[in-house]
Amino acid sequence: MTRSAASVFRFANSVESVRELAKKRLPKGLFEFVDRGSDDELAILNNRDAFNRVKFRPRALVDVSGRSSETTVFGQSIGMPLAIAPTGAAGLLWYRGEMALAKAAAAAKVPFTLATRSMSAMEDIASEAGGTLWLQLYTQRNRQDCYDVIERAKAAKFQGLVLTVDTPMNPSRDYNDRNGYSLPFKYTMRGVTDILLHPRWFAGVIGKYYANGGLPRFENLPGRRTINEGISPTQMLSDDLTWRDIEEYRRRWPGKLIVKGIMHPDDAKRAAQLGADAVIVSNHGARNLDGTMAPLDALPDVVDAVGNRIEVFMDGGIRRGADIAKAVALGARMVLIGRPTLYGTAVAGEMGATHVLNNLKKELLYTLATLGVPRISELSRDIIHAPHLAPRATHEMKIAAE
Ligand SMILES: Cc1cc2nc3c(=O)[nH]c(=O)nc-3n(C[C@H](O)[C@H](O)[C@H](O)COP(=O)(O)O)c2cc1C
Repeated sequence: MTRSAASVFRFANSVESVRELAKKRLPKGLFEFVDRGSDDELAILNNRDAFNRVKFRPRALVDVSGRSSETTVFGQSIGMPLAIAPTGAAGLLWYRGEMALAKAAAAAKVPFTLATRSMSAMEDIASEAGGTLWLQLYTQRNRQDCYDVIERAKAAKFQGLVLTVDTPMNPSRDYNDRNGYSLPFKYTMRGVTDILLHPRWFAGVIGKYYANGGLPRFENLPGRRTINEGISPTQMLSDDLTWRDIEEYRRRWPGKLIVKGIMHPDDAKRAAQLGADAVIVSNHGARNLDGTMAPLDALPDVVDAVGNRIEVFMDGGIRRGADIAKAVALGARMVLIGRPTLYGTAVAGEMGATHVLNNLKKELLYTLATLGVPRISELSRDIIHAPHLAPRATHEMKIAAE
């Protein structure tokens, strides 16, 4: 840890303690926008509980002195089995927050996913941050706008296109409406007071955008509208997205095609049949349909359905290095994280995101050592105890079959 990271974070190493620091720094409405779930917020608790229900069955007396967190994704070596998930909000938490995240990801040798609804242009991310870059796309009502975004991503040499398929409509999050966090931003008394009570954030983020050309814009959407203008009606979410769109995207996108928001094994099979290179088992960080099962619980069936044909990733609720190991042991090639690195970015930009990534890696290495599994490729269901999951996910079933 650098000296300044040490002074900013002191002993705030866990994601939860970095979250507490972010909560202090951000306006309440913005923190809630990042942190909370939808409706009654049951799924957000369940995403975490799923990790608590899965236990380890460690191996003893294994030489773990050569342990490593490195693995491969799409045949390419990465620093740990983790990527940064697309999140539209990073540019509001920190001035050019997406750039901070992308640079932290490149330094940690992990993929970074830029959300289309973000505030940093993809060309700038590619030229300034580098590393493995994927672009996330929501299908918008005007398909031509989507195809234009894809052409830009191709020209900017992004390696992956992440198609989010779990958001046909805006989800129900009452607190955002109360706080004025909608598109366009609504200037409610409550929201404005909240912002005025956080002058450091206002000067450091909004003030800097003003000093450098004006309010933050959706730089990756045609029209480059500001957050005050909101996105155009043709760029709203599309509720008529179908598998035909996936076929069309596959035709247009030569790089890696990753379908995000798959929970059902049959959907994973269909994505594989249509030429996807990977699926992300995800319930959107419990921000959409509140009644979904946890992605960790959905993971084994998806892996059994397509794991030998395409790569399977998962996200939702990863807060510790041990969580990464559990997901990989249940068959995920790697995980993605959304909120954890956003909390870090909100506290200290690139340094904050790096702090979170470094600590997750440290925790993962500790987990590998104490599990008696020195390499990521050796994590398997054999070291997992999870009787509630599909029986074939458990060690007991392996014994029964022998
Ligand atoms: C503030 C915020 C904004 C997000 N924006 C997007 C987005 O634009 N596109 C998308 O596919 N997912 C988006 N997500 C979902 C993340 O990509 C990811 O699925 C989720 O955050 C994973 O759960 P975790 O936060 O528990 O790690 C967003 C999540 C958060 C917290």
